[in-house]
Parts: sequence; structure tokens; C-alpha cells
Amino acid sequence: FAGVGIAALPLVGCEARSSFGPLRSSDDPQPLAIPPLNRGAVEGGERVFRLSLTTGQKEFVPGVASATIGVDADYLGPTLEMRRGERVRFHIDNALAEGATVHWHGFELPAAADGGPHQLIRPGTRWSPSFEVRQRASLYWYHSHLHRRAGPQVYAGLAAPIYVRDDEEAALDLPSDYGADDIPLIVQDRALDGSGKLIYPLNMHTRMMGVLGERIFVNGTQNAVFDAQTGQLRLRILNGSNARFYEFSLAEGQAMQLIASDGGLLDRPHTVRSLKLAPGERAQVIVDLTEGRPLSLVATSPDNAMGMMGGQGRGMMGGGMMNRPRDGGETGEVLRILDIRPGRGARARRLPPRLSSLNAPDLSLAVRTRRFVLDMGMMGRGMTINGAAMDMDIVNERVPVGQWEIWEIANASMMAHPFHIHNAQFRVIDRDGRRPPPLETGFKDTVVVNPREQLRVLLRFEEHTDPDLPYMYHCHILEHEDAGMMGQFLVVNS
Ligand code: C2O
Ligand code: CU
Ligand code: CU
Repeated sequence: FAGVGIAALPLVGCEARSSFGPLRSSDDPQPLAIPPLNRGAVEGGERVFRLSLTTGQKEFVPGVASATIGVDADYLGPTLEMRRGERVRFHIDNALAEGATVHWHGFELPAAADGGPHQLIRPGTRWSPSFEVRQRASLYWYHSHLHRRAGPQVYAGLAAPIYVRDDEEAALDLPSDYGADDIPLIVQDRALDGSGKLIYPLNMHTRMMGVLGERIFVNGTQNAVFDAQTGQLRLRILNGSNARFYEFSLAEGQAMQLIASDGGLLDRPHTVRSLKLAPGERAQVIVDLTEGRPLSLVATSPDNAMGMMGGQGRGMMGGGMMNRPRDGGETGEVLRILDIRPGRGARARRLPPRLSSLNAPDLSLAVRTRRFVLDMGMMGRGMTINGAAMDMDIVNERVPVGQWEIWEIANASMMAHPFHIHNAQFRVIDRDGRRPPPLETGFKDTVVVNPREQLRVLLRFEEHTDPDLPYMYHCHILEHEDAGMMGQFLVVNS
């Protein structure tokens, strides 16, 4: 990751203190919750999922119940499993007292099925979208995208993983036994009040910085422990936090094999010792347990504000790594993986040297460049893209279907923003002219744009049904999205 990635993140071991500080991990260990797997039911040529959005109660600390939202659950929801090439249909009942939406993050699909702010599911009603699964095998997710209220609804629990499987990946013999050697990890920070109840502290400061909690939960479990039964584990990590960035690593600095980004397999396994994920981003790593020692997955969290008050951004410092930690630099264990015991089938599976064939992004395909400037205004009062805040009635861009474009995303603010584009899996070309790190060599739908940085991606849209319904592009810090750092585009016939 040298010189690239999230510049605001201190490296583990460099600026990081190994205190647990505000990222408290000191309570008793709990077995890692694994979301139940929901494969739907095949009916009339479609895979059909029946889901219900419900209110729930969850104890974030033992004995103290908090009001939450879940999908067929008190909090979070089932992992939906589907295959590339099949048609899926959902019947989603909204049993909440408020409107909600369910967005399929990472999917290329007709706008009417996207689940963005225009696909409101009113309380007591059912939404039944359907689409063909065109995505490569990977970890995707579904979550609330309610206009101006995505932050509080996701925070309360309206989010869960999606596994897409396909033949290309199945041929590789990667760990893929759900819940055994193939584990989803939804990493989220949450704030609790003095009594242990979940709070969503929205105020002037958090509207600007995003809501940060002082405790980290994985699949809703704090101090999670996973008792491994196999010599190799595939961890599918989703940063499902509203605003917190993480740099993940193994506590003793062991190597991890990075195999996939948002949109599926990379060209080959890349050996990494740490992994940066901003809200909305995913990555898959293979970790090795054949040495017979437990592993500890730790997260360092930086302060995502570079000279917000003092005016010392990277641009002004000539590209150096500047960070002024507020609660930054804290390292906390997010998952303890217990070692396998002898006789439990510890076999050292060799990873295939090649995972997928990915061509380098071909810039000569692009017929135009579109520019997006992210800004926050004074003290975060003007969350905008190209000077405009999100307006449900305004279409900001009209993009011809099927044409390759370069989207140039510039960050004029002092915070890093994870930029997400609906209805696309794109390729990162460069950041300020520099080549991207391993995680960004594959398909992405969410990518960090550092303060004062300019990032270029190559993409095209193939879905153009529902001509009058827009798709979204936005910052995936949910408080920024809710405050207007979002725009709308139509995919039009050229
Ligand atoms: Cu994950 Cu538009 O969102
Ligand atoms: Cu999305
Ligand atoms: Cu942002």
C-alpha cells in the first residue's frame, strides 16, 4: 500500500498505539454471530426471497435492550445467496412504523429495482422488485437508502450481506462453505449511552464528521470469537459502518492473501499485511491457520479529518501523510480466530496462482470524461457534488447507455469520502496519476477519494430500462449522503 490508499490512515505500528482506547474491546468474548443463510426458493424460473423489515430488540451490552431494525431478525438480516445469470425476485414487507427502502449495493439492475430513495416502501406495504443477477461472484450487500434517513436506518440494523456465486469462482476450489470456512464479517461501530443503550448521536459535529461509535461489532457481536474448524479461512469483510474507516491486519503482522474486491476476484492473490476499507467497501482475504496458533484480526481507525480545523491538508503539505488523530490510531481486536485442534482437518490448501483474467482498464475506449467535485462547505454546511446538494427532483447527469466514460472525482474538502456509484462496477485508473493499490486493481463500486485528491475511474452502464428513474452516486459516509453529498443520473439511449 506504499504511498497509495487512504492517505489519512496511520499504518499499524507506525503511529498506532496499541491501546484499546475508545475502541473498547474489553468485555467478555462472545461467539461470532453468523447471519443465517437464505437461498430463497426457486419458483417458476425465478429465485424468490420473502423478507420482512421489522423492529427488534438487541442487547449491545448484556442485559440492556435497545430498539433496532432487522430483516427477518432483530438486527441486521440474513445473507442472501444467489447465482450469476439467474433471475431473482423479492417480496419485501415493511412492518416498520416508518417508510424504508432496500438498496442492492453493487448490482447492475433496472432503476425500478435499485432500491434507492425513489423506491420507497411505505409502512404496511410490500415491494416486489426483480432483476437478473449480472454480477461476478462476490460479497455485495443490501441496506436502507431512505432519503435523508439512510444513516439512522442502517445504524439501527437495516443492512445485511449478499453472496453471489458463479461458475468461474466455483472452478477454483476456494473456501466456500458458508459459516465454516467462508465467513461474512460486517464491521460496524456503534455508540452506546451510559446505560448501554444504542444511541445515534446526530449533532453539528457528527453531521460533519459522520457518526462514530466507540465500540466495534462484527455481525452484531462485540469481542467476537470464531472457533475455526479448517486450516484456511476466507473472510469476506464489509465495512458496514456509517462513517468509520478501518485498516485491518493480523495482530502479529502475519500475511493475508487478498483475493477479491467489491466486484469479485482479483487477477491473482495479493499478499497483504493490512487492508484499508472505507464505509461501503468490501474485500476478501484468505487467512492461514495451519500453524496451529490463534489469529487476532485487529482494526486501526484513523481520524478522517485532515486539518479540518487547522487547515493542514495533504495538498498543502505536498502529498505527505498528515494526520492529526482525534480518536485515530487506536487499535482494537475485532475478531479472535481460535486455532484448529489436531485432527480437525487442517489441510494446507494451495491457492490458485491465477484467480481471474482482468484486463488493464483501456482508456482509449472512453468517449468522454465527466467531472465530479466533492465538497463540504464551511464546517460541513454545504455537502455537495459539483456545487449542488441532492434534490430528488433534479437529474444531475444523463449518461448514454453502453458508452465508456472516465469519471474524474475530485475532493475539494479536508475529509476523505468513499464515492459510490449505483448500477456499475468500475475500474480505478489512477489517483493523482499514481497507480492504485492491489485492492483497487479489480472491480469496485465504492472508492475512497482522499482530501485534495483526484481519482479517475473507467465505467459504462449497460442497464437502461426505466428511462425516467434515476440512479445515485454519492459519498458512502451516510451522514454526508443524508446531508446532500449525492447526485442522480439517468442512463439514456444515445
Ligand atoms: Cu450502499 Cu447508494 O449505497
Ligand atoms: Cu449502491
Ligand atoms: Cu463524505
